[in-house]
Amino acid sequence: MTPMTCIEDLRAVARRKVPRAFFEYAEGGAYAEETLRANRADLARIKLRQRVLVDVGDRSAKTSILGEPATLPLALAPIGLCGMQHGDGEILACRAAQAAGIPFTLSTMSICSIEDVAGAVDKPFWFQLYVMKDRGFIRALIERAKAAKCSALVLTVDLQVLGQRHRDIKNGMTVPPQVRLSNLIDIATKPAWALSVLRGKRKTFGNIAGHIKGMENVNSLSQWISGQFDPALNWKDVEWVAGLWGGKLIIKGILDVEDARTAAKTGAAALVVSNHGGRQLDGAPSSISMLPKIADALGTDIEIMFDGGVRSGQDLFRALALGAHACLSGRAYIYGLGAAGGTGVARAIEIIKNELDVTMALTGVKSVAKIGRQNIAAI
Ligand code: GLV
Repeated sequence: MTPMTCIEDLRAVARRKVPRAFFEYAEGGAYAEETLRANRADLARIKLRQRVLVDVGDRSAKTSILGEPATLPLALAPIGLCGMQHGDGEILACRAAQAAGIPFTLSTMSICSIEDVAGAVDKPFWFQLYVMKDRGFIRALIERAKAAKCSALVLTVDLQVLGQRHRDIKNGMTVPPQVRLSNLIDIATKPAWALSVLRGKRKTFGNIAGHIKGMENVNSLSQWISGQFDPALNWKDVEWVAGLWGGKLIIKGILDVEDARTAAKTGAAALVVSNHGGRQLDGAPSSISMLPKIADALGTDIEIMFDGGVRSGQDLFRALALGAHACLSGRAYIYGLGAAGGTGVARAIEIIKNELDVTMALTGVKSVAKIGRQNIAAI
């Protein structure tokens, strides 16, 4: 087998192995995908400052995230339907993240439930929360995350209304996959995927199935969201969630300085500068273009995390240089999962870690805490 040298290699394999509807669900963005492309393009525009003859013999990417040690400033982002990229995908990805010494985030819209993952791993993970209209269900979900000893709650605030993803509609993306000829032919050509999903613990939304009345047969994400998610969500609800949770809270989906200032006042431990990977407001600026403005406005008031287009250690370095304390990455590990299950996730993390290490060496930086704007040659 050709060695997997970069995330793009994992992506190419995942594209062959995962049914089109699920591959494109993870890959795609909202509407014309302008923001999706801007995330990657704006990262690539940032040029790093090469330094030579600096003693970097003793360098390390170790850091702490929310006060916990981490081997590198990276966490696996919450990904809906992760277990449809590979059977038991959430468990495999969580194990790979924990073995690598970084946090894993389980999505509300995951296939394996909170309890499935908690029962299969031996360290705490983060749980991502979407607030739905049924507050009794949300209260119960928070209680379940507490009972599972999740170490942080990641409250996503930029998806109360879904940005339309044309590809999902065209592909008839549902869970389990819609029975139509094109999907059946596609799945028939992906036997390893089919076997892994058949063997997996669940075939539907594990956190939700059987927990919300009247939604037993709803299998499309857009139906779920339009029927259940609460568009009236506001800052008062953040207080309510924070009060119920009582632990470390991360507010994910901040792309505006004013919103960032408000988020910092909530007492949350961290915020994630994010446009949901270009999957929500198409036409929004890239995440990386907003990061320095938000970092400048907030200073050290709150831990600043970043996501949006991170596919390499160089991208991770760029985000740290512009003010992020750590990054979340979704698609990079999803490609690894689709390509080779848990081994693929481990490989994705290793690739990014090695790239970060070499980037630190070639920019003359010995510790991630020292990465800053001085390491940027041009934006
Ligand atoms: C869910 O979080 C999605 O972006 O599809």
